[in-house]
Amino acid sequence: MNPQSHFSWAESLSPKLLKSPWWIGHIPFAFELVGRLGPRSIVELGTYSGSSFAAFCQAVRASGGNGHCYGVDLWAGDIHMGSFDEALYQEISSYVTSEYPGIATLIRKDFNEAASSFADGSIDLLHIDGTHTFEAVANDFHTWFPKLSDRSVVLFHDTNVTVENVGEPAKKFGVKRFFDSVTPNYPHIEFKHCYGLGVLFVGKELPAAVRELIDLSKAPDFDPYFAAKGAAVSKQFADMGVELPKHGAYGDEPVTPTPLWRRAVNRIRALIQ
Ligand SMILES: C[S@@+](CC[C@H](N)C(=O)[O-])C[C@H]1O[C@@H](n2cnc3c(N)ncnc32)[C@H](O)[C@@H]1O
Repeated sequence: MNPQSHFSWAESLSPKLLKSPWWIGHIPFAFELVGRLGPRSIVELGTYSGSSFAAFCQAVRASGGNGHCYGVDLWAGDIHMGSFDEALYQEISSYVTSEYPGIATLIRKDFNEAASSFADGSIDLLHIDGTHTFEAVANDFHTWFPKLSDRSVVLFHDTNVTVENVGEPAKKFGVKRFFDSVTPNYPHIEFKHCYGLGVLFVGKELPAAVRELIDLSKAPDFDPYFAAKGAAVSKQFADMGVELPKHGAYGDEPVTPTPLWRRAVNRIRALIQ
C-alpha cells in the first residue's frame, strides 16, 4: 500500500486549531475518517479547549457536506483533568461561533442530560472523551448507543493510558478495558500513539469508503503512517510553545479565585436568604 495515495483527507488538510497536546496526534485520522464517512451529525462528549472538536468541524467544512458538529461538555472539569478556568469555555465558544457558524454547536450540559436532545438513530460519529473511568465510559456508550445511526462510528480516546505512561491516577482509567469488551462485536481499529484511540465501526450500513478504510487498516504500513502523521502534528504544537492552562484539583475552587468583592456579595446574600 502507498499510504500517500490512499489517504487524501489526511494528506490534504492541516489542523487550524491546536490548543493542547493530548489528542492532536489523531487529527490526521479524524480528517480521513470524516472525509470518508461524510457524517450528517457528529457528537463529541468532552470538548475541553476544542482541539478535537475543531478538527471535526474543519473536516466537515472541507468535505463540503452539510454535517453538523455538537460539542457536549459542562466545562467544569472531571476527576482526571481537575478543574479549569471559565476562560477556556469562553475561548472555544467564540472560536467556533466565528469560524464555524452553521457547522458547530456547543452544548453546556452533563452528557446524560444532553442525550435526550438527540433523536434515536441520528448520530453518525460519536467521540467519547469525557471522564475516563470504566464506569463512565460504559455509561456514555450505553446512554448514547440508541442515538447511533446505521452508518455510525464511535471513537474512544485514551485506550492506551496505563500506569506506566501517566502514573498512579491512571489506575482509574478504564477506557481500554471497556473498548476490549465491545470489540468482539464490531470491526475496529486501535491506534497506540497519542494515548491511544479506539475506533469502533458500529453501523451496519457503512459507506464503501469507510469499509475500504477498515480493509486498509490491516496493511502493515497503516498504523505507522497515521502515527507518523500524528507525530508531525504533535511536533508542530510543541514548536508553537503554547502555555497550557493551569488545572486545579477537581471539586476545588475554580482556578481563577473569586474576586474579593464577589465573595463579599455572596456572603451577604447567604446571610439575607
Ligand atoms: C479529556 S477532556 C476532553 C479533551 C478534548 N476532546 C480535546 O481534544 O482537548 C474531558 C472533558 O470532559 C468533560 N466532562 C467529563 N465528564 C463529563 C460529563 N459527565 N458531562 C459533561 N462534561 C464532562 C470535562 O469537563 C472535560 O472538559
